[in-house]
Parts: sequence; structure tokens; C-alpha cells
Amino acid sequence: MKRKNLLPVAVFAVFFVIAAFIMQGFTPQTELPSNIPDSVWVVLEKSCYDCHCDDGNGMARGKLNFDKWNGYDEEKQMKKAVAIRDEIEKGKMPPKKYLKKLPDAALSDQEIQRISNWVSVKEQ
Ligand code: HEC
Repeated sequence: MKRKNLLPVAVFAVFFVIAAFIMQGFTPQTELPSNIPDSVWVVLEKSCYDCHCDDGNGMARGKLNFDKWNGYDEEKQMKKAVAIRDEIEKGKMPPKKYLKKLPDAALSDQEIQRISNWVSVKEQ
């Protein structure tokens, strides 16, 4: 009698484990930009992602949200990439106030160059 009663429980447990495995495969880990090269992304993540993400600054993520990047169409990605280059070349982003708090977020000339190159290659 006891054994019989346990069978449905065991079946349920097995299904639950299988379902959990399948769900894990379907749940996107984090939707990070898939077509930004790693060398560029490390810089953007360090200096920009704080504000330009779903949990970020309301105004900032309205204009540019890296959590939504994969959903931007090609034309929009291109426009945003050009805007990114403009902002960093003019030294407008990251904002000065932010750099006062987090000096490590400042971009080196080399990092600015790396992002400019990425945008120029994209433009061709
Ligand atoms: C402290 C938060 C903060 C950080 C860090 C930050 N931004 Fe911004 N960003 C903003 C805000 C707020 C706006 C919207 C207001 C504005 O345009 O000044 C914005 C706007 C922008 C825009 C849109 C400009 C426009 O008018 O279309 C771009 C592009 C941008 N940021 C790029 C960057 C890049 C690239 C970095 C990293 C190098 C960065 N931001 C880091 C807060 C931030």
C-alpha cells in the first residue's frame, strides 16, 4: 500500500527535475548585447552599463539601454553606436558627476580609440 502511494510522487519528482532542466535551457541568462565585440563591451560595461540598463537611470535608459540592445534593429544599433562614439569623443559620457564618484569608470585614450574603431568598421 505504502509503495503504491509513493509512485505518483516519484513520477512527479522525476518530471519536475526534467522540467527544471528544460526551463533552464529556455531562460535567457542575461540578455547582454550579442554583437558587440568583447573588447568593446568590457569598456561599455565598466563605464556605461550602470545607467544604460533596465535598472539604470530613467533618462539614460530611455536613450540607450544595453539590456534592450539585442532587440534594436540594425539601423537603430548603428545610430546608437554613432551616438556612443560622439558622446565619448566629446567627453560627455560618462557624465562628469559620475566620474567624480567612480574615477575608475573614466575611459583611457586607448579605450576611446577602440570604440571609435568599432563604430567606423560598423559604418563601412
Ligand atoms: C551616471 C549615469 C550615466 C553613465 C555612467 C553614462 N551615461 Fe550616457 N546618459 C546618461 C543620461 C542621464 C543620459 C540622457 C541625458 C543626456 O542626454 O544627457 C545619457 C545619454 C546618453 C546617450 C544619448 C545621447 C543622445 O542625446 O542621444 C548616449 C549615446 C550615451 N548616454 C552614451 C553613454 C556611454 C557610451 C557611456 C559610457 C562611456 C555612458 N553613456 C555612461 C547617463 C549616463
